[in-house]
Amino acid sequence: MLIVDDVEANLSALEALLQGLDCTVTRAASGNAALMAMLRKKFAVVLLDANMPEMNGFEVAQHARMNPDTRDVPIIFLTAHSAEEFALRGYDSGAVDFLSKPFNPHILRSKVSIFLELHSGRRLLADANVKLADQNRQLQVLAEKERAAAAESQRANTALKVAYQELQATQAQLVQSAKMASLGTLVAGIAHEVNNPLAFISSHLGTIRSSLHGFFERVHDVDPEAKERWDRALLRLDQASDGVERIRDLVLKLQTFSRIDQGERKKVRISECLDSVLTIVNHRTKGIDVQVDVAADDEVDCHPSLLNQALMNLITNAIDAVDGQGQIVIRAAAQGEQYVLSVSDDGPGIPPEIHDRIVEPFFTTKPVGKGTGLGLSITFTIAEKHGGSLAFDKRPGGGTIATLRIPR
Ligand SMILES: Nc1ncnc2c1ncn2[C@@H]1O[C@H](COP(=O)(O)OP(=O)(O)OP(=O)(O)O)[C@@H](O)[C@H]1O
Ligand SMILES: [Mg+2]
Repeated sequence: MLIVDDVEANLSALEALLQGLDCTVTRAASGNAALMAMLRKKFAVVLLDANMPEMNGFEVAQHARMNPDTRDVPIIFLTAHSAEEFALRGYDSGAVDFLSKPFNPHILRSKVSIFLELHSGRRLLADANVKLADQNRQLQVLAEKERAAAAESQRANTALKVAYQELQATQAQLVQSAKMASLGTLVAGIAHEVNNPLAFISSHLGTIRSSLHGFFERVHDVDPEAKERWDRALLRLDQASDGVERIRDLVLKLQTFSRIDQGERKKVRISECLDSVLTIVNHRTKGIDVQVDVAADDEVDCHPSLLNQALMNLITNAIDAVDGQGQIVIRAAAQGEQYVLSVSDDGPGIPPEIHDRIVEPFFTTKPVGKGTGLGLSITFTIAEKHGGSLAFDKRPGGGTIATLRIPR
């Protein structure tokens, strides 16, 4: 605390009265010295003599109130004036209390004690405030960390989901490949077994036809029913040859299917592949508007016979889809590291309920004898064999776009 009085003896008397209180006492012998001391140190309370030469106590208080650093320091005036007069002047100057001289030592000590307690209470409060602010900051840091951790776990979660989806897709592909592989072994055996009998049935059919022809030449004048029987026999022979042809076609497909792992790779031009495939299916494209759009840079490193097969399958499917009239657009162009071949048709499109099944071996919606259901499973395996992919999309305006992508 600070005690201010211009009379040395008063200061000593005051100090003596205050002895034993829990604080250090600073003395000031003038108003100026008091203001300087208040600027240097934050006092719990100032005992200020109201009546001093040069600058009296009220002026000191006024100055102290003008400075933000000293504004809140409690001041007790020590005055010979009456309480009323003090109240009129002292409170205006910002005093918080007064003591009239000569003062009662008990009252002096108890008043000062109250201010000391108030001061230490304030200090505790300020300390607590500082601690609170500090804890608040720590809490904020923790909350920030928690937010970051939550965001991180959200990110990890999303990554996990993506990985899981990829895993599922890979698994589906593996199952599909495994199905194809075991089927490949099976059909290779069947194709081999069927080929021999097929060869002799086919050659015997020729022999039977020419034998019957010779026989008919001899009897057709003698037997009036001979012509009718001959025609019927010829019809049956044609149907049998047709059947044999279909079986041969199926066996051929099965063999391609099982031999997909064989054959050389080489560089070919897609435009040439398309030409040869379109020549083969030429008889089926009458009445269909076939457009071919192949970009200039069309060389691809592939298994040419397999790629031809794949193209053939996609194109014959498009031909089947448009059913004699409509439009088929074949596009081929490099896209970055890939070569993209697409065949689109304006047929009825692939119904969503069978979309996932069309590459299954033997899945067909075509009538018996028309489709084997092997075309797309072969094409799918060929795409895989090249490290590429096969996809089917809806064509805007109806129809299908089949897209085969292979790395260049
Ligand atoms: N462009 C297309 N438009 C509509 N449906 C299609 C198309 N391509 C394929 N499909 C459907 O997918 C099925 C399977 O086709 P996939 O080529 O494997 O066998 P397929 O054509 O029936 O017989 P094949 O073995 O003679 O090719 C078809 O039966 C058909 O239902
Ligand atoms: Mg087909």
